[in-house]
Amino acid sequence: MIPLSIPHLAGNEWQYVKHCLDTGWVSTAGAYVTQFEENIAAINGSKRAVSCMNGTAALHVCLKTLGAQPGDYVIAPNITFVATLNAITYTGAETILIDTDPDSWQMDLDLLERFLGARTQVQGGELRSKADGRRIIACMPVHVLGNMCDMERLTALCARYHLPIVEDSTEALGSTFNGKHAGTFGTFGTSSFNGNKIITTGGGGMVFTQNDELADRVKHLTTTAKTDPMDYFHDEVGYNYRLVNVLAAIGVAQLEQLPGILQKKKAMDAFYRENLSGVGDIQFQTVTPGVDHNCWLFTFRTERMRELLTYLNANGVQSRPFWTPMNQLPMYKGYQYVTEHDYSTDVHRTAISIPSSSGLTEEQLAEVVKQIRNFYG
Ligand SMILES: Cc1ncc(COP(=O)(O)O)c(C=O)c1O
Repeated sequence: MIPLSIPHLAGNEWQYVKHCLDTGWVSTAGAYVTQFEENIAAINGSKRAVSCMNGTAALHVCLKTLGAQPGDYVIAPNITFVATLNAITYTGAETILIDTDPDSWQMDLDLLERFLGARTQVQGGELRSKADGRRIIACMPVHVLGNMCDMERLTALCARYHLPIVEDSTEALGSTFNGKHAGTFGTFGTSSFNGNKIITTGGGGMVFTQNDELADRVKHLTTTAKTDPMDYFHDEVGYNYRLVNVLAAIGVAQLEQLPGILQKKKAMDAFYRENLSGVGDIQFQTVTPGVDHNCWLFTFRTERMRELLTYLNANGVQSRPFWTPMNQLPMYKGYQYVTEHDYSTDVHRTAISIPSSSGLTEEQLAEVVKQIRNFYG
């Protein structure tokens, strides 16, 4: 079976992990944690990076730092992985869902702009829902598959409405918009180093910010809110969300390989686009003008998605459907959903992801294309 998206551990991972084991520095303290944070911040241009045990924890702690609490709203796209909404829900806040753009599969900014104009108002420097007066504490764009919406338009729009941005940039490490890295547009950005991501630590996450005070606060919350290096005094309910040194060591080694991984991903994307163009009714994701895409996971739309999914998985090519829209999950069904055409349902019904690991050989890529061509006859 050609796998969908597996790690490519081809650098210094073994050496750095061995160093942790040899020295006994395997847990929450250790030099690799700081090194990983500093190296990733240097790559994407953020002032500070704070590591976390996974991307969901990273999103959660950003929202806690902004003060999200029961009764608040957070705006997020209807097409995302469930962790985005889970992180919001952990704070007690509710999500206002925005439908997707049918071509780029990012949050539809026209709908967002109309919603903000018609159904919200700024009061005392805070944005509130006109319907019930509740605070809207953040907007959380999700850079779906490493693509982005027009981030200049989004940041201008959110600034106009006093709305902080928390970027769910967990899939977008290495992507840029007009030369600026994903995760550096908002008050906060995030990364995930889950096993299927562009680089992995097995499991891990990162928070990015340009603000030292906010970074310190994130660090405080992720380290059980301990105020004294010696005494066990904690000034609020914190979290044990730290990334351990042995995983950060893998992260440092993976980051060293990021330029090469990005090159391979782009070559894969170009190969698929060239060889699948005009095959059946295949429609590719449109990359937003200005975006330099990390090409994380190759996904396309076809009306015959379910048939193709069964065919590929039965013929040695691991493939997956796309996320069920959030408003169709039992726990998020009742949430306000801003839409005109419900493109989320169309995208979910037709989108399929195909093998995209950076270690794919030319033979494997050719085999994937051959099987897809065979299917359409
Ligand atoms: C869009 C999105 N948000 C959040 C997450 C959560 O990251 P993690 O799995 O590291 O908790 C992921 C990845 O799994 C994701 O793809």
